[in-house]
Amino acid sequence: MVINIADIIAFKDETIPKIQGLNISNRKSPVTKEMVLEAKAEFPSYNRDQLAAYLGCSEQTIDRRLNGNNIRGGKHQAQTRIKLVGGQIEAYAYSCGLYLYDKRIWKKDPAWANSRWTTNTLKAVSETEDLYIFWKVGEYEVNRSRLTEHEWKEWGYRQVWDIPSVRKNDDHEAKFPHELAQRIIKLYSDRGDIVLDPFLGSGTTAVAALQESRHYIGIEKEEKYVALARNNIKSAMAQTSLFDETPLFKTIHQHSAIRQFVATLQN
Ligand SMILES: C[S@@+](CC[C@H](N)C(=O)[O-])C[C@H]1O[C@@H](n2cnc3c(N)ncnc32)[C@H](O)[C@@H]1O
Repeated sequence: MVINIADIIAFKDETIPKIQGLNISNRKSPVTKEMVLEAKAEFPSYNRDQLAAYLGCSEQTIDRRLNGNNIRGGKHQAQTRIKLVGGQIEAYAYSCGLYLYDKRIWKKDPAWANSRWTTNTLKAVSETEDLYIFWKVGEYEVNRSRLTEHEWKEWGYRQVWDIPSVRKNDDHEAKFPHELAQRIIKLYSDRGDIVLDPFLGSGTTAVAALQESRHYIGIEKEEKYVALARNNIKSAMAQTSLFDETPLFKTIHQHSAIRQFVATLQN
């Protein structure tokens, strides 16, 4: 079982104290926190407006210096932190007899659009996702012929996979690249195997499976994505030139191994 997932970089957590980033490079007023504290000590009864008038700045500056630069927008918002998800996934897997065997890292494009806050903080822009590879107890085959020598050297042995993100997410908001699915399928399965993706989305895994002469089972909860995946799968199947022998894939109803597998899943 291979799971592709990223840590949650802005996980809201009500239980932790507020951590304020004081962005001094954005400061327009020369008034410092120390100056406000000194004025407060000298005139303990002054409110924010009076302190602002005394120091010759806006009351917002007083607020910012005392409470951090996010006080207007961020006062009532929960603090965010990074949430590591690998440990949770590892625990779930262990509880059903799957053991963490390997981990790879997908280095994708930097997600600038999702990381607007980085200009105002010291946080990095997100540009990796993890691939957790789990094994069930028993034997497994190491079949060197699954990849060419070149593929082994380029990515088969490598922990970091440099694959550009899907630039056009116009029909589905979170597609992963075809090459990501393709590498996983080639490395961990043989021709004729069944590849199951329970979060099929636009059908990337199914298309890659077909192109690598594997069967697929896809599960997707959104009707519109089921339709999209069906379309993409149909186009991939139409390109029969992709197969160098009689296609191994058949529809679910035609293939007894798949029928049996689906029945097992349903049970
Ligand atoms: C990150 S997307 C996967 C995208 C896919 N890898 C691709 O390249 O198009 C996750 C998909 O899982 C679907 N999904 C979420 N929860 C689900 C569930 N409980 N059962 C089936 N599908 C689910 C979502 O609708 C979404 O299309």
